[in-house]
Amino acid sequence: MEVVIVPDAAAGGELIATAIADLLTRKPDALLGVATGSTPLPIYTALAAKVRSGAVDAARARICQLDEYVGLPAGHPESYRSVVLREVVEPLGLGESSFLGPDGNAADITAACEAYDQALADTGGVDLQLLGIGTDGHIGFNEPCSSLASRTRIKTLTEQTRIDNARFFDDDIDRVPHHVITQGIGTILDARHLVLLATGAGKAEAVAATVEGPVSALVPASALQLHRHATVVVDEAAAAHLKLADYFRATYAAKPHWQGL
Ligand code: PGA
Repeated sequence: MEVVIVPDAAAGGELIATAIADLLTRKPDALLGVATGSTPLPIYTALAAKVRSGAVDAARARICQLDEYVGLPAGHPESYRSVVLREVVEPLGLGESSFLGPDGNAADITAACEAYDQALADTGGVDLQLLGIGTDGHIGFNEPCSSLASRTRIKTLTEQTRIDNARFFDDDIDRVPHHVITQGIGTILDARHLVLLATGAGKAEAVAATVEGPVSALVPASALQLHRHATVVVDEAAAAHLKLADYFRATYAAKPHWQGL
């Protein structure tokens, strides 16, 4: 696992957007797995700017979703489909045909989960999966004690996650769905490159447990330790509890530029 400590969220966004641009240059039709929440927004802003300036051509990029609420009406502005279309797909100049996501309104949710895993496999797999991290260490919506081998399935959100996400629902926790579809941890680990961005002091404890704690279902993000190409990008505040922070800084400072992330 590589840990990169950046000064702030904007620097993290720029660094990761550059890695995505490099990927799209090598593989123009790369499948990019995107995350929702507040943290990845600087990545999307920086990437869209690169597309607008002509620094990268994203016309053939494909985008796929990490997770989704169950039961929000189609077109609800806070469904993750709507969020990804608004924050990623449209700013990159792509259309819905470039986009893949699970159906949170399916009559048969179990079948929809299996179909999404199969669809991801049929595309040839995710090239780069962006991840945020919950204050409880979740990735996607894999809450603590999710199986590290799990596939896409329905999950029940913890009270803490519903509190954390109430800000997207006019601070009304009663409007935050209880159930979600999420790529499983095993599904996430199938991606070729995992890039987790964490910013702010509120994530410092979860980041330390992820990077320096034991691999444990109690901290789902710690499964990144099992992946051969996992990058954790953190700002100074989110790095505050890392015992090896100085080592991570020195290692990245000495890294050959050509290696990228
Ligand atoms: P956030 O969400 O980026 O809005 O903090 C992260 C997550 O829950 O994965």
